Amino acid sequence: MADAPKSAPPAKSTDKDTLPNPIDINATGLIGKPLDRVDGKAKVTGAATYAYEYDIDGFAYGFIVNATVGKGRVIFIDTDVAEKVPGVVLVLTHRNAPAQAGYGPPKFPGDDPLGRPRPFLDGAQVRYFGEPVALVVADSFEAARHAAHLVKVRYDTEAPQTRVAPNKARAYAPESDVAGNKADAADGDFDTAFAQAPVKLDATYTTPYQIHSAMELHATIAQWDGDKVTLYSSHQIPNSEQEAVASTFQIPKDHVRIVSRYIGGGFGGKLPTEADAILAVMAARKLGRPVKVMQTRQQTFFNVYHRTETVQQVRLGATRDGKLTAIGHDAWLQTATFDEFVEPCTGATQHLYAAPHRKTSQRVVPLDLPRSGSMRAPGEAVGLLALEQAMDELAVKLDLDPVELRLRNEPEQDPAKKVPFSTRNLTGCLKEGAARFGWARRQARPAAVRDGRWLVGMGMASAIRNNIMRPSQAEVTVDNTGHVTARLAMTDIGTGSYTILTQIAAETLQVPIEQVTVLIGDTDFPETPGSGGSFGANSSGSGLFDACMAMRKALAGAAVSNGPLQGRKPDQAHFHDGRVIIGDGADSYAAIAARTATGSITAEGKAAPGDGYKSYHQASYGAHFAEVGVDPDSGEIRLRRMLGVFAAGRILNLKTATSQAMGGMLWGLSSALHEEAMVDEARGLFINHDLAEYHVPVHADIGAVEVLYLPEVDDKSGPLKIKGVGELGICGAGAAIANAVYNATGVRIRDYPLTLDKVLTGLKAA
Ligand code: MOS
Repeated sequence: MADAPKSAPPAKSTDKDTLPNPIDINATGLIGKPLDRVDGKAKVTGAATYAYEYDIDGFAYGFIVNATVGKGRVIFIDTDVAEKVPGVVLVLTHRNAPAQAGYGPPKFPGDDPLGRPRPFLDGAQVRYFGEPVALVVADSFEAARHAAHLVKVRYDTEAPQTRVAPNKARAYAPESDVAGNKADAADGDFDTAFAQAPVKLDATYTTPYQIHSAMELHATIAQWDGDKVTLYSSHQIPNSEQEAVASTFQIPKDHVRIVSRYIGGGFGGKLPTEADAILAVMAARKLGRPVKVMQTRQQTFFNVYHRTETVQQVRLGATRDGKLTAIGHDAWLQTATFDEFVEPCTGATQHLYAAPHRKTSQRVVPLDLPRSGSMRAPGEAVGLLALEQAMDELAVKLDLDPVELRLRNEPEQDPAKKVPFSTRNLTGCLKEGAARFGWARRQARPAAVRDGRWLVGMGMASAIRNNIMRPSQAEVTVDNTGHVTARLAMTDIGTGSYTILTQIAAETLQVPIEQVTVLIGDTDFPETPGSGGSFGANSSGSGLFDACMAMRKALAGAAVSNGPLQGRKPDQAHFHDGRVIIGDGADSYAAIAARTATGSITAEGKAAPGDGYKSYHQASYGAHFAEVGVDPDSGEIRLRRMLGVFAAGRILNLKTATSQAMGGMLWGLSSALHEEAMVDEARGLFINHDLAEYHVPVHADIGAVEVLYLPEVDDKSGPLKIKGVGELGICGAGAAIANAVYNATGVRIRDYPLTLDKVLTGLKAA
């Protein structure tokens, strides 16, 4: 696919410049290139400074003390012994913590829910096991940790409620979920259509609690200067944390600065402002001295979002030739008792397949657990584990190839919103994937293929992930050496933001990447929506692109006011190799900037979702194909090979995009086979709260995994014509594995993860 340089109209958000879109022209070929990460060297040499590592004079260490009951009240707390430990300078509890705003709606109207107050030590109540009940601050980490164990706490306890299924009767219908879907969506008459369908599937799937475990632990250093506070904090959206801190302590937003230059993984777990940030701010204020707080790995299992467990009933009705007539998907989910979150579990089901009669619902149960919240691909990641296994079960009932079943139910327009798709190439992904994977060799009959002692099977699933764009701003400066510096409050959570932003600026301004510095992760820079929801690249990239287009204009304007291009027409400017070219004359950015009063030129830009988000449904798509081997005696499941084929708009950097997809696919494998946070139901405790007991795959668990992006340009998504790729890879991936296990063994397991015991029980029954 070649982009047509001249025919591409500039997108709405950047029509201040009538020149052809330089990203479409891609004159230097930087866009799409599998460029190495520009921050890679800093990271592998340890030069990249993470939140906990800032060298700030005179700081003290804070260590969190966690509640050891699942629900109740602190009735006695003795900090005397802890306070006497040499080096201890402060013990904060609910008795001496400052006033904070309570949980509730956003304090700044129109702002995002992540900016809501996040109070800690705000009373004697214990809402969940592990809730912070004290913070011990000392001159050394060792003293703080030691003293933390000497804080004596007694509780009045109540029995916590921790599981969704036994509490279904208490479920309520929320207004909407985190993705903005209504709790209930319906089209046509599902009940009648399902009742009358010649072929029916009615199955209930369950997925367990899952926990974020970013490699970099949650950490914050808080430093007050007068009535202003700076947080060096590991956070995906600095502007949200700024707002959350401001609303918690009821101080002006511009009194809070967040610095998050490097982030060792976020996955949604660093979207909310957590205890390390709030407690560090409190302690630093009280002490008049910087305080750093890092959560331990074990603490993050309680004090960071988890993903809710889900109970999902999927009902599919179809004609005998495999046309879906009725799609039903009802989900029951956990929310915290004190802070509502609704996993958008059935959202994808509204858009994936055509059927005249559809009905989805989401019900939440308030339970005595930490907050459930966003975890990479909130909604799709667990929703498609159910829907895409159900489609496989329906294919079996229809005696139809599961790829063919999906092809037969490809909608012509978005089934829910009744608008066209911006771009949708699910069929291309399915067909290309099937061809490359050798899907035709699959035996439809389960347990039909053996390789030595292994039962071998293939499975597949579709992927869909909502494409989102949010308003974003950026600032660009060209100095008297011609160097380009971009500033924006974006973050890089490991996804490659630094690199793709560098590519966008370099290509738009036609300079080599060495001539571009991208500065991000600071609320002193122009506001962005940060990293989350796969909207990061599209939002902040578009804002930066707009700033670079404004810079082209500013350079051309400055160039014609004096120097070799004086008097020429700025609207005829071309840009090449760090120079403005008009007619037969040229001038370098360096010289143009040097002649200005300040010796530099600065331009600002912004982008926001345009009409393309109202008049079109926007999503990225893919198809997963997996081959597994199952040991019939041990129940052991091995991934032999896996292929993901994706269509996600223009790809900015093939290397980072491929890594995102591959990581997502492996996480899908993890959710299919390994991950499960188990609850001690009597105490409300996640029992396996470390990475020894909470299982995730390691290299030895992964076979040959391949990622392919199909060429696509989405001219409705924004000026860059890209779509989000961060969360697409996990969507449906686990279902492809579960379907492969069925094909290998004939055992259908609807309760994730597919552990050995479940395989063996199934094999015995068969
Ligand atoms: Mo995501 S769950 O917004 O990192």
